[in-house]
Amino acid sequence: MDRIRIVGGAPLNGVIPISGAKNAALPLMIASLLTPETLTLENMPLLADVTQLERILGNHGVDFSISGKRRGETENAGRTVHFTAREIVDTTAPYELVSRMRASFWVFAPLLARMGECRVSLPGGCAIGTRPVDLLLMALDKLGARIEIENGYVVGSAKNGLVGAEIDFPKVTVGGTHTALMAASLARGTTVLRNAAREPEIVDLAECLTRMGARISGAGTSTIEIEGVTSLSGARHAVMPDRIEAGTYAIAVAMTGGDVLLAGARADLFQAAVDALVAAGAKITETNEGLRVARNGAGISPVDVTTAPFPEFPTDLQAQFMALMTRANGVSRITETIFENRFMHVQELARLGAHIRLDGDTAVVTGSDHLDGAPVMATDLRASVSLVIAALAARGETTINRVYHLDRGFERLEKKLSDCGAQIERISGQG
Ligand code: EPZ
Repeated sequence: MDRIRIVGGAPLNGVIPISGAKNAALPLMIASLLTPETLTLENMPLLADVTQLERILGNHGVDFSISGKRRGETENAGRTVHFTAREIVDTTAPYELVSRMRASFWVFAPLLARMGECRVSLPGGCAIGTRPVDLLLMALDKLGARIEIENGYVVGSAKNGLVGAEIDFPKVTVGGTHTALMAASLARGTTVLRNAAREPEIVDLAECLTRMGARISGAGTSTIEIEGVTSLSGARHAVMPDRIEAGTYAIAVAMTGGDVLLAGARADLFQAAVDALVAAGAKITETNEGLRVARNGAGISPVDVTTAPFPEFPTDLQAQFMALMTRANGVSRITETIFENRFMHVQELARLGAHIRLDGDTAVVTGSDHLDGAPVMATDLRASVSLVIAALAARGETTINRVYHLDRGFERLEKKLSDCGAQIERISGQG
């Protein structure tokens, strides 16, 4: 297992290219199951989760090929990948594949909508909480599917096809909204989603489905209307920039000081976090090439944040913002309302000398003027990167174990940071 070694203290200066968004790429890839024609996705990030989903889709019969780079393209240009599900050869998604990545459960909707049947392993719990799929199944049930649980598998059938319906989500769910969008696109009649997720990744999927011939209005608001069509076609679509990656590097610059252009980043995709960073003392300006983030001289002010569905502060930046607050000039409160167990980074940040007290769903962070390097590890992607941020500002050396978590969601992390002056390196193959 690889480790990452960081010697803290260097400010970040330069340009960080922002990759295509993992959490948009995954549902877009899954949408390729809806059509026998080719779905071409541009700006695809090269991430472990993407590779794993390619494997899962391959098991259902999806062929994929990667376009070569064109003249003048650098490693920063995302890949262009063609996905073709000419024939679905298997409607079962087995435990061995689904258990490794929760989002793979989302194949349920397109398999059911196109084939009238599917069998997908229940994803089970994960490091950030129980994360049930009841609302995804509720949406499919409303669309007329028969759903049964058999031996750890969810079995869906809709022999005569899905039928449009009114679906009211009792809780905002990104996966539930992706599922309903894909299924309703091939249902007979009109579907209305209420209390739908408004995340930009939902808008990206809706735009791609629309290019494939779906009839969708209202994506990005809490009411989405979908008029079903009998078939969808191939299309070409560019994956949106990763707002969580952009937010992570913006927080890193606020932490270390310096001045970095986040090339391709858009503030409107994570405005609540941008506002929190400005309140903490970062200077953020929009330019034609992306977002420029700087912090020079002044210290970090404490800022309270509460995670909530878009457009509020994203849960996927909570750990990173907490790392920043460990160096603030005062006390901040960070409240997590999306996942019940997303504070695993607290203990590890404490190993670096952070002062954090947990009070139910709130972390009370007392900032201090220094952190000290230490060996740490984390159990999920965003928690791992919060340790990278803390390590960049800590005195001395930090080694971060279980780097595979980072590889699931951050493309070329060490390269992007070291190009801006960070002392960071990957140590291969030692436990
Ligand atoms: C997506 O997960 C993201 N994953 C997560 O990113 C992100 O943290 C989350 O949305 C919230 O923004 C991908 O896009 C691949 P939800 P998802 O359904 O769709 C509860 C990362 O680090 N719920 O919006 O699984 C659920 O337990 C990851 O990149 C039910 O109760 O999240 C949670 O409390 C981690 N029943 C809340 O809803 C259900 O059937 C929101 O979850 C479904 C969800």
